[in-house]
Amino acid sequence: MRPALPVILRTVLFSFLLLSSCAIVYTTVLNARTAQSLADSSLESTALSLSTSAENALRIGGERMNEEIREILSDRVVAYALIAGSEGTVLFHTNPRLVGTRIAEEGLKEWLRAGRTSGRRVTLGTGLSAYEFNYVLHRPDGDSEILRLVLHTAQADRIVAGARHLWWTVGLALILLWTVGILLERVFARHLRLQAESDRREHLALVGQMTATLAHEIRNALGSVKGYTQWVSEKVGESDPKKQGLAAVLRGTERIESLVNDLLLFSREETYSVESVDLESLVRDTVETETSSWTGKLEQETAHGIRAMADFEKLRRVLSNGIRNAIQAMGPGGTLRVSARAEGARAVIRIEDDGPGISQEELPRLFTPFHTTRADGTGLGLAYSKKAIEGMKGVIELSNRPEGRGAALVIRIPKGG
Ligand SMILES: Nc1ncnc2c1ncn2[C@@H]1O[C@H](COP(=O)(O)OP(=O)(O)O)[C@@H](O)[C@H]1O
Ligand SMILES: [Mg+2]
Repeated sequence: MRPALPVILRTVLFSFLLLSSCAIVYTTVLNARTAQSLADSSLESTALSLSTSAENALRIGGERMNEEIREILSDRVVAYALIAGSEGTVLFHTNPRLVGTRIAEEGLKEWLRAGRTSGRRVTLGTGLSAYEFNYVLHRPDGDSEILRLVLHTAQADRIVAGARHLWWTVGLALILLWTVGILLERVFARHLRLQAESDRREHLALVGQMTATLAHEIRNALGSVKGYTQWVSEKVGESDPKKQGLAAVLRGTERIESLVNDLLLFSREETYSVESVDLESLVRDTVETETSSWTGKLEQETAHGIRAMADFEKLRRVLSNGIRNAIQAMGPGGTLRVSARAEGARAVIRIEDDGPGISQEELPRLFTPFHTTRADGTGLGLAYSKKAIEGMKGVIELSNRPEGRGAALVIRIPKGG
């Protein structure tokens, strides 16, 4: 079976949304990573350039050496800087009071011997984030000292913060993308549904016209057959063997007549003369007519004075079919419950039986024309009922009773004044 167009559309649309979302997220992750490494390398190059300047000042020496180094390291980005000897004694500090203290550093000597520079992110005692850069200073006398620069990271981290802000923009863009996508899907699906519905209506109208013409012709021809058979049957004596055959012909014509009548009812364009109908008496009379020869138990509960806005004849036909269906489902016994009451702005009629109920396979086909499980059924009763009740701006449902056995036909129509 070919997949339906809405399914294909939905798949294409959601695949597109998913792929573009993935592409956007991937690019943003990449961007965030680049921003982080950009920030780190900017810190490293600042530290390196400050360190080499300090080293140069140290090489040149002279009286103003310390002042010069202090000046170089007084850059705003420097949180503090120190120079320590291989034993860890602080020889220089941007805070002069700390000169002479010691830095506790394991493996300092080895590290100095290896002569490598290193940088890492640390957290200061104030809780601020900083970048610690260690640089080996080679003194003119061949000794090595460590220059430790601790830089504020705020400026560099602004690049990272910028990338982080991008996440908000990306998030909003994704929400927008998905909202537009879902709306588009809804609009498309609705358009296709309406299109299919209008195609179905057109098709039904055509079938209806054909059926109506055909049914008229059959009914006319049937009128002659029935009339003539009845006439002959009256002439033939009771003991005549032809009598039985004629009775069978009559039964056949009656069956065809009822089928044709149902077909005509279902297929013709109906006009509705909706008025305020006294439901109490309509329900009572219909129940009485339909159950006159039935032997089961009847429970009736109609709210006093209840009225509905309905087409009297059509509603009577719908109720007759509902009651007949219930009785046919139960057979000669069982309990039939018919009730009519007001629920909000609606009048609700319920026809409940305790028959076998409706199977799961049958449920979706209930209101489709010609669906019947009875040998002498036409399968047009419920299809007509749906058309008629919807024509009165109501709804009709048939389902298994939630409590106990059997089925319940529920009709909701606007309440009458
Ligand atoms: N109360 C009910 N209990 C069980 N099945 C029902 C009931 N009412 C309707 N049905 C099912 O719905 C089918 C269609 O009903 P309907 O349209 O009135 O046509 P018909 O009465 O000619 O069969 C019935 O054949 C039956 O299978
Ligand atoms: Mg029926």
